[in-house]
Amino acid sequence: MNPYDGQVSKRYLIRTHGCQMNEHDSERIAGLFEADGMVATDSLDDADVVVLNTCCIRENADNKLYGTLGHLKSIKEARPGLEIVVGGCLAQKDRDLIQAKAGHVDVVFGTHNVHRAVELLEQSRTSGPVTEILEAAVLADDEMFPSALPARRKTGYLSWVTIQIGCDNSCAFCIVPSVRGAEISRPFGSLIDEVHALAADGVTEVTLLGQNVNSYGRDLTLKLRAEGAGEDELAIDRGSLVAGAAWAAEGQRARPLFADLLRAVGDVPGIRRIRYTSPHPKDFSGDTIAAMAETAAVCEHLHLPLQSGSDAILAAMHRGYTAERYLDKVVAARAGIADLAVTTDIIIGFPGETDVDFAATLEVAAAAEYDAAYTFIYSPRAGTEAAELTDRFVDHTVSVDRMNQLRAVVERSSHRRNQDRIGRIEEVMVEGPSKKNPDVLTGRTRQNKLCHFASPEPIRVGSYATVEVTSAGLSHLLGELVEVTHVATHRTRIPVLSS
Ligand code: SAH
Ligand code: SF4
Ligand code: F3S
Repeated sequence: MNPYDGQVSKRYLIRTHGCQMNEHDSERIAGLFEADGMVATDSLDDADVVVLNTCCIRENADNKLYGTLGHLKSIKEARPGLEIVVGGCLAQKDRDLIQAKAGHVDVVFGTHNVHRAVELLEQSRTSGPVTEILEAAVLADDEMFPSALPARRKTGYLSWVTIQIGCDNSCAFCIVPSVRGAEISRPFGSLIDEVHALAADGVTEVTLLGQNVNSYGRDLTLKLRAEGAGEDELAIDRGSLVAGAAWAAEGQRARPLFADLLRAVGDVPGIRRIRYTSPHPKDFSGDTIAAMAETAAVCEHLHLPLQSGSDAILAAMHRGYTAERYLDKVVAARAGIADLAVTTDIIIGFPGETDVDFAATLEVAAAAEYDAAYTFIYSPRAGTEAAELTDRFVDHTVSVDRMNQLRAVVERSSHRRNQDRIGRIEEVMVEGPSKKNPDVLTGRTRQNKLCHFASPEPIRVGSYATVEVTSAGLSHLLGELVEVTHVATHRTRIPVLSS
């Protein structure tokens, strides 16, 4: 029942595709729905409203959406009350095309108007199907940043915190800038305020989100310069940053950098772990390495997307670094941060990639000794520069063969690096029973490795424990409980945060 008006509450189901940005947007859609009296369901059979939060980073996402919409059409024919909502990056890209292809969709909204989910649903009930796509984030801060609005978080102990939206880079393969817009940094004060609020709620691990986190604050500086701020005004009193929100409230104009942000989040009482994604190798600096090393809460994990090990391909991609420069940064990070795990993203078969280019990728991947890598076959995205290079497209079977070779190289280092951990005592954050074997618990180590371990006693999710690693596979560790070091204090029923 809806507590406010005695009506039966509508049930909603959100299916999320794509990256953490979308996951976080979905939490916010859920938060808005719940603030409106709706309740979540896991089952399509009893959902009144289905939201597809879409991704378009690679082509198969498009095919999947229209396949799913076909399936939902038959369900809606049998159950006309079902309301279908499409949001996210593919909605931003395809706009009117979605309702043109699938007239049974009630609402389409883009990446800049997630905050309008409830109003648009209302509008479709009174005036029929609606598509609303904004071109850019021309919004107030609290509407622009998902973290600043009500959210229904998946867990009470982990949280994403958006530090920046959009992307100002122009990687030749990538559609993100066109669907997520220009880079906008979230004001430092509101960000730190939110981390304080999350910590007060029992959250102990935060993941800072942005497409290019190392450029955090750059747009704020440019804006201040444009407003006539002098260099002395832009200079930072590092000491005052520790005060976080107080610093912002005092109206100081100087802008912090990503490294300052890591330190300030690390100073929030109750925050035990900080992760972030993704840094861009061209902007990943010694400053960030120092902040990671000096801030106890920052986890020993760096996800540094390589994309290719060939200088010619990196240049064609407009990545802004060479393989040597990339490897120098990995070496510097490992030298500066004890026990660092390094993971990456690599694209295979970018237009024009030759056997020689690919051999360079294999070499760099072997030299970087990754803990893990996400490998993707290049997928042309209309509107991006690389999609025009049709005469240089790499044959799919060649790409598949290269992908297998690359995976073998990455698996060698990830297996070796996991095995190196046997005999060590690792801190894990407990996530619950293992999916494959409910008799053991699963947690994540600071290096972000999955660790399954036997425990004689149940442990509350979100708690921290030490585990002795007894064996290691390709993508997980196995171990035994040593002791529980911190019992989670978050609330079980996650409240809808108020804005
Ligand atoms: N901002 C992040 C990347 C976000 S997209 C960064 O710069 O690191 C996540 C990953 O998807 C990218 O790192 C890239 O490896 C992959 N990707 C992006 N566009 C792609 C495309 N057109 N084809 C295949 N993989 C792609
Ligand atoms: Fe895409 Fe490049 Fe921006 Fe990452 S940095 S989102 S790959 S354009
Ligand atoms: Fe996909 Fe959009 Fe993320 S295209 S990868 S959901 S930013």
